This record gives sequence, C-alpha cells and structure tokens, in this order.
Amino acid sequence: MIRSMAALGWSLTALAAPASAAQPLPQLVSKDGHHLLMVDGAPFLMLGAQANNSSNYPAALPKVWPVIRALGANTLEIPVAWEQIEPVEGKFDFSWVDTLIDQARREHVRIVPLWFGTWKNTSPNYAPSWVKMDNGRFPRMRTAEGKTHSVLSPHARTTLEADKKAFVAFIAHLKAVDPDNVVIMVQVENEIGSYGLARDHAPEAERLFRGPVPAELIRALGKRPGTWSEVFGEFAEQAFASWHMARYADEIAAAGKAVKAIPMYANSALGDPFNAKSASTSPSGGPQWNMIDVWKAGAPHLDLVAPDIYNRDAREFAALLDHYARPDNALMVPETGNSIDHARFFWAALGKGAIGYAPFGMDATGYSNYPLGGRTLDPATIEAFASKYRLFAPIARTWARIAASNPIWGSAKGADGAAQSGTMGRWRINVQYGQWQFGESDWTWLKSDPNPARDQPVGGVVVAQTGPDEFLVAGSDARLRFGLDKPAAGESAMMVRVEEGTFDEDGSWRMARVWNGDQTDYGLNFTAEPVLLKVKMGVLK
Ligand code: DGJ
Repeated sequence: MIRSMAALGWSLTALAAPASAAQPLPQLVSKDGHHLLMVDGAPFLMLGAQANNSSNYPAALPKVWPVIRALGANTLEIPVAWEQIEPVEGKFDFSWVDTLIDQARREHVRIVPLWFGTWKNTSPNYAPSWVKMDNGRFPRMRTAEGKTHSVLSPHARTTLEADKKAFVAFIAHLKAVDPDNVVIMVQVENEIGSYGLARDHAPEAERLFRGPVPAELIRALGKRPGTWSEVFGEFAEQAFASWHMARYADEIAAAGKAVKAIPMYANSALGDPFNAKSASTSPSGGPQWNMIDVWKAGAPHLDLVAPDIYNRDAREFAALLDHYARPDNALMVPETGNSIDHARFFWAALGKGAIGYAPFGMDATGYSNYPLGGRTLDPATIEAFASKYRLFAPIARTWARIAASNPIWGSAKGADGAAQSGTMGRWRINVQYGQWQFGESDWTWLKSDPNPARDQPVGGVVVAQTGPDEFLVAGSDARLRFGLDKPAAGESAMMVRVEEGTFDEDGSWRMARVWNGDQTDYGLNFTAEPVLLKVKMGVLK
C-alpha cells in the first residue's frame, strides 16, 4: 500500500527509512498539501485520548482503559518518562513499556508514547534525579544576570547525549517488542521551551546569539544573512531559542528513527493566536505557531509540529488550527480540553484535515485540569466525545482517505451562536446553530420557545466534497443547508437525494435510509447523536 501511495505521488514528509515489505511501518505521507497517516499500510484517522500525566504506571492502567473503551478511542497517548526508564544512569527498565503495549494490544488500541525527557511543559521534572541534581553536568539556562532558570539549557551536549541515549534505548526496545506497531507515532519531549526567559544567557549561548544565524536557516527562510537581531528583530530571542531547541529535538528524533522509522512529532504550548509578540514568550523556543518555519528548518526528522489547544473560544481555536494545518505540516491536535464545550471543535479540526485528535485527561484517576479542561469527567462529558468517535471509528480509515483527497470544510459553533458559511465549488454551505429540527426560527411560536441547545456550546459539522455536486456531511446539534454560491437568474438549489449511512470496511457506502420530507424540508438537521449523510445536490432552472 505504501508503495502504491508513492506511485500516486504521495511523498514521505520526514526523513525516514522505507518500511519493510512484510510489516509496513506507520508513515506520514503527503501530497498536494494533504496528509495521510498510514497505519498497517492503510490510511488511519487517530481518534485519540490522552491520559493524565501520572497515569503512566501499570497501577493506573485499570483506570485508563474503561474511559478509552467508553470513548471508543482507537489511540491512547500516554507518557513514557525518562525518569521511569532510566532511574539509574545506564540501567534501563522497560517494564512500563511492556505492560502498556501488552495491554494496548489486548484492547485493540494504538499507542502514542509521549517522551517526557529534557522538557515537560518546559521543565525537567521528568528527567531522572541523576540529571536534575547534577546541574554542573546538565546545566540549566541562565538569566542575563547569571541567575539559574529552572529549564535545562538546549546548548548542553551532555544533556542532549544523555536524553538521546535513553530515547534510542526506548525506541530499540519498541523495535524488539512491537513488531505489529501498536505504537504508531512518538511525541518527542513535551511542550518544549521556557517560560519567563526567552533564551539562555550562559556564556556559550551568548556567543552563539551574538554570532550569525546559521546559513541553513537563512536559506530555508529566504532571508538575508545577519545576526539573530538583524534577521529576526523583536523575535530574535524566540527564533534563537526555537532553532536550538528544534535542532536538539531533531537530533533525538533522527537517532530514534535510525532504529525504528515511525512518525515523530513535537507539541507546543500556545500563546495568543492573534498576537505573535505575546505568543513569543509563552513559551519561547517550542514549535509555537509563529516559529513553525524555524522548526521546519531545524527539525526535518520530525513529521509534524502540533498544537495543544485548550482555548474555548471558537475563533481562537480555528485560528490555531489554521496556523498548524499547512501544506508542509499535517494537522494533529494531540491535546485539547476534555470539557463538553471543547468536544464540538472535533468538527473544526476534521474540517481542516486533521489526521488525529485527542482530548486530554481521559482517565478515571479523578484528576481534573479545570479550567483548561472540564471540571469532572462525568458520563455526559465522555459522551460529548464518544458520540463523535462512535460515528467515525468504523469509518476512520475511509474518512482519512477521503479527507486527504477531497476538499473539506468544517464549522464549530461560535460564542455568538451565529450562522457560519463556506464555499465548496459552486455550492455555499450554511450552518445554523440552536434550531429545532422542524420549522424556521422566525416562526412566531418558535421565537418564544428556542431550542435549549441555542445557549449551549455544542454543535458543528464537517463536509467533504466528493464530486462537483456530491458531499459527505456529518455533524451534531446543527442545521446545514446547501445553496448555490452564485445562482444565475432563475436558478435555485435542489436536494436530489440524501442518504444516511456508513462505509463498510472495504470503503463501500452502505445506505441505511433516505432522508426526505420533514427530514430535509428545513435543511439537514443534526441532533446530539452525529450521523453521516451522503448528499447529491442539483440545480433547478
Ligand atoms: C499541557 C501538557 O502538555 C500536559 O502534559 C498537561 O500538563 C496539560 N498541559 C495540563 O493539564
């Protein structure tokens, strides 16, 4: 399958060895600005969930799997910490990894291990104590005044070599115990960067900062040579930190991939999506949205950089998706809030061609990261995500293939609940929120009895255009209508046929029923239980 994708012009995005013919390795492939995650040689949509930070022990797993099952997630993201696998320097303990993979295999769930190494939310908390305690050998960053900052310096070869050695041992172990690729992707570090200090000021870092921007970065960005300040102006310190942290993560990823070439990525904490200057310190150095180009140049062995999106505002969420969905970067949302109001952004992410999506804190250990996520992980919250995963799990591979080869558009209800629209070919798609399924909101008696969903943060749709007048539509708590974008005089849109159904495993459409009459007279009305519709439109002249 990989070979046939290559024959069709799909290319591997990151430097990786070819998959073996017997058991294709997971790969990220890209073509014409679209991206596909290939698992077992076929497209895969990651319907993920991330466990809480301290759920990375065998004792916690019994509280993880029930939530993963209730969600219907096909992938679990969970930490593998440096302190855990190398508590004593040079002595490795992979019992956690073995337990995790065995149980995941039994659960038929894929794993994305999160390598908590030099940086975890920027801090070195997950480095082994022999690293944390030895700041001579593993130096921390320095402030301009020479004071110690908590974050480990990216300029220390000793730290990089030690982290890399542990990471490579981990990947080598995976290669040995995971021939069937339960692990489909690896996150390298976690939210790299530093808060409160834009870059290291230790003597070596100072020397590098005063020197020229490396020629390879200049070339990649098409800039004129100069010092960091000359080339990047007010973003010089952030660009400097980003380059060095990207190079650091790249060296770790490259060494891991040389052992087992599966997709690898780095995630980012995010600043204000509309204000690069404020984003530049929150934190500085990670694959923050305004530094993606620097990271692309500095970390070619990473398949993608990914946003951790906890924003609850739909405009902000959409802007962040836009920042990371690029022809040279597959969109994947490795973390988002686990509150009911975050669940609707699944639709927006799919609408930008996301290859994966994962709410954070999805286990029954009782921890809540409110206000980032929900207050409690109650059944209603799980259901807000599970209802969507239920629809997409059986068609995850078909959806991934369709989304990567057709125009796609999505919408999630905004704070104002206003209608949203998009254009696909000659069609204009209009989405309304908070409507009853029957009738128009300006009907007198409906005005006084609005749908309760009107004031709730729920609702969204995703649309794939599979032909000039043909669409696949899925959604929840929304009303969708197709109209002609630019109708000629006397022309109007006509719904020719609307089928509700699903795809069989071989990708063939299986119709359950036709929607007609009340079910189409007032648009296509989605309830809280998402469905998949195949829509054929026509023009009435
Ligand atoms: C983002 C980090 O990547 C996660 O590990 C976690 O700390 C959340 N923030 C907050 O719960």
